[in-house]
Amino acid sequence: MIIAHQDPNPKVNGAGIRRLAAAGIPVEIGPYGVEAIALNEIYCRYICAGRPFVTLKAAITLDGKIAAANGDSRWVSGPPALRYVHWLRHVYDAILVGVNTVLADDPSLTCRLPNDRPYRQPLRVILDSRLRTLPSCRVASGDLPGETLIAATELAPAAARIRLAKPGVKVEIFPADDAGDVDVVALLRHLHAREIGSVLVEGGGRVHASFLRRRMADKLALALAPKIIGGSGAISWVGGELAQVMREARAVRNLRPRTLGQDLLVEGYLEDIGECLLA
Ligand SMILES: NC(=O)c1ccc[n+]([C@@H]2O[C@H](COP(=O)([O-])OP(=O)(O)OC[C@H]3O[C@@H](n4cnc5c(N)ncnc54)[C@H](OP(=O)(O)O)[C@@H]3O)[C@@H](O)[C@H]2O)c1
Repeated sequence: MIIAHQDPNPKVNGAGIRRLAAAGIPVEIGPYGVEAIALNEIYCRYICAGRPFVTLKAAITLDGKIAAANGDSRWVSGPPALRYVHWLRHVYDAILVGVNTVLADDPSLTCRLPNDRPYRQPLRVILDSRLRTLPSCRVASGDLPGETLIAATELAPAAARIRLAKPGVKVEIFPADDAGDVDVVALLRHLHAREIGSVLVEGGGRVHASFLRRRMADKLALALAPKIIGGSGAISWVGGELAQVMREARAVRNLRPRTLGQDLLVEGYLEDIGECLLA
């Protein structure tokens, strides 16, 4: 019997293999193990780390910008890349953005694919420490399919909590991190307890920086558009300080590029999903 990798779930881990071995059937583990773990990356991270699998996704220009200095980001990438984003939203259990993105773009954060199938809608998560989300924003309207979770801190005024909460829109209070923002580690723990296995972080730059700083991002999916915005005021896909010198720069492994229309989709890994299985 040949097995690509063991099931990391402690409820079953190794039990089947032991039964096969006890019955005299030799078991070989490992050929194509890395490839198989990549196919099961969401499940492996969810089971091994006690948190959802996290992918940072952004549509960026060749100079690494997600929006012009005035916040305009419609549209960085072309239709094939946009369709790919909606497919990702279909795959992931939750989509997460920062409140600046909600205020700048008023996104719906729903999965919209071009046919009539009733697609499962991901949970929408908004990082919004002080509850600046306006009740008129689409994600707070209560009119969208699925649920919106607005993650705030104790800094949020009670009146805003009451104003925003309604059927389909929930406000939850989380601890603050050192910067006074929503602590993404506590948030991911909460989502794991809700059996959310995967989170697609769709920006903006400050939110991506938070996940990178706390080492809570497993994978990148960057759609590189053949455009250049330029200027120090345009918004980068990673805001804030991460590395002071080159040797502190975060490494990305197993980069895989492929074309999506005129754009280049670049995917890669930040954390090693297989370490818990292959150790
Ligand atoms: N091209 C793309 O793919 C793309 C995707 C998304 C957004 N965008 C563009 O990006 C721009 C917004 O990006 P941005 O960097 O200014 O803001 P952002 O990342 O969307 O939101 C940041 C805000 O979220 C709140 N927040 C709460 N907890 C946080 C945490 N743990 N980490 C980070 N932020 C937290 C903070 O506001 P409080 O302190 O008030 O809580 C913070 O200022 C918009 O112009 C949008 O159009 C482009």
